[in-house]
Amino acid sequence: MRPVIHNRNGIPFYYQKTPMEFKQDIYERYHEMVVRNAAVHTADHWWGKYPFQAIFDFAENHYPKSIDSNILEIGCGTGRWIASLATQYPKSTCWGIDYSYQMLKWANDYWVKGKETTIDFADRGVPKLSQKQEPLNNLKFGLAKAEKLPFEEKSQNLVVNSFLFDRLENPIKALEEMYRVLKPTGTLIVITPLNFKKARHWKIFYPPNKISTIVKDTGFTILDWKEDLIINEPLDGHGNLIRWKCLCFAVKKG
Ligand SMILES: C[S@@+](CC[C@H](N)C(=O)[O-])C[C@H]1O[C@@H](n2cnc3c(N)ncnc32)[C@H](O)[C@@H]1O
Repeated sequence: MRPVIHNRNGIPFYYQKTPMEFKQDIYERYHEMVVRNAAVHTADHWWGKYPFQAIFDFAENHYPKSIDSNILEIGCGTGRWIASLATQYPKSTCWGIDYSYQMLKWANDYWVKGKETTIDFADRGVPKLSQKQEPLNNLKFGLAKAEKLPFEEKSQNLVVNSFLFDRLENPIKALEEMYRVLKPTGTLIVITPLNFKKARHWKIFYPPNKISTIVKDTGFTILDWKEDLIINEPLDGHGNLIRWKCLCFAVKKG
């Protein structure tokens, strides 16, 4: 792995974020975004079920056969997906990478340190919740950019990401990085709404057959492709939600 630039409260930084980048990052600016991500991804009983379960249902068909794999989630947020993989593959080394220190700090405290963590979503009509988890000792979190991963070439068996692709500055560079770090038999699973922030990204990546061409040009072979996976993301305790129509694909290297 690339050397750590510095550590902040147990989170290794593999990318030197400038003060301007911290300022521009909404996940640093609004602690509310971190609380919301934690609430959506760890307080299943508030919502009746885990709202992102459809992602797991799509993805699990493509998980590694080998129990001691290297598994990486990029843009892991508060870490639910990579923590579920670390639980399912206790002999594997699992990494969650994100660009937001605030997300990583929450994820590390909750999943790795096993700290009792309070989710205060009361201003959205949801009761305050304190909860803790058994610490996962095969899981690590680090700060890095999807477009410049700190991992060795051909080091990962599985790379996953959700709700990341459409908000990257350079999704093609990130795909190339995912390709680079995957082992020759490795699998990549991507789940993304098409909710691009830039007009030029709509032009390059929409409709989704353009993404399929880019994915193949990067060197991947498509295993599974679905353009209409629906995720209902809760917004509050009153049943308001955002409905995301997601593109999902699983591809293998080579
Ligand atoms: C919408 S959240 C999704 C979090 C989680 N994957 C989920 O499905 O809820 C997007 C996440 O991607 C992270 N992110 C944005 N740009 C990134 C980049 N260039 N590299 C790594 N992570 C990034 C953000 O900090 C944020 O945690």
